[in-house]
Amino acid sequence: MRVVFLGAPGVGKGTQADRIAAQFKIAKISTGDLLREAVRNQTELGREAKRYMDQGQLVPDAVVIGLVRDKLAEPGSANGFVLDGFPRTVPQAEALGKVLQETQRPLHRVVKFEVPRQDVIRRLSGRRSCPKCQATFHVEFAPSKKGDACDRCGETLIQRSDDTPEAIETRLQVFEEQTAPLIRYYASKRLLSEVNASGSVDAVFEALFSVLAPYSAI
Ligand code: AP5
Repeated sequence: MRVVFLGAPGVGKGTQADRIAAQFKIAKISTGDLLREAVRNQTELGREAKRYMDQGQLVPDAVVIGLVRDKLAEPGSANGFVLDGFPRTVPQAEALGKVLQETQRPLHRVVKFEVPRQDVIRRLSGRRSCPKCQATFHVEFAPSKKGDACDRCGETLIQRSDDTPEAIETRLQVFEEQTAPLIRYYASKRLLSEVNASGSVDAVFEALFSVLAPYSAI
């Protein structure tokens, strides 16, 4: 199964990508996670990316395309993958199409997550992340059983540096301007499915499962 999750910041792409990857035993490739890892490791790429990420702007296409190309070449994605947060611009989508064509692994589906704007802001404002194992929580909707510490590894949870009101506003604007055109791009290729992602995590997973299950045996 080879799928892309598309949607505004905070719609729940990462949460569901983890579950879908585990359910179908495919790789989760998240450009946000890869970039945050580079920032944590203070690599040159990470230092460059951080300037864009903290402001809610997109990291240059060439940087993220290179990251994804490398990941897709790893054996971990041979059984399939879910791309979370990539592509985000039409040039990224074209570059992805080229890489997948070269390796004869076309996409099966692009799933667009739909959530009203006020719910997205609530989800992002209450998100807490584990800086060690990358688990994601929500103070209201998905609290850690250990309070301010991670359920999985015990590390103290943090709020992402781009989950400030100013950066959230910019990210939503950037989505409308640069990522929304991808909806038309993939619709014209007849790859697009929409999922109402405003319900509970379990309800959204069920909706996704119905859309994706037909591709699991391919
Ligand atoms: P990235 O990490 O991709 O951020 P994003 O797209 O803004 O998405 P989020 O991670 O904020 O949200 P999500 O949809 O994954 O929601 P989540 O599951 O966490 O990118 C960060 C930055 O990196 C970008 O701004 C950019 O600078 C750069 N970047 C990344 N990719 C790039 C690219 N391709 N090109 C250029 N730059 C790139 O859920 C959010 C919260 O809601 C959580 O607390 C969760 O617990 C909760 N929640 C989830 N589902 C539900 C539910 N159903 N009900 C209630 N709460 C829920």
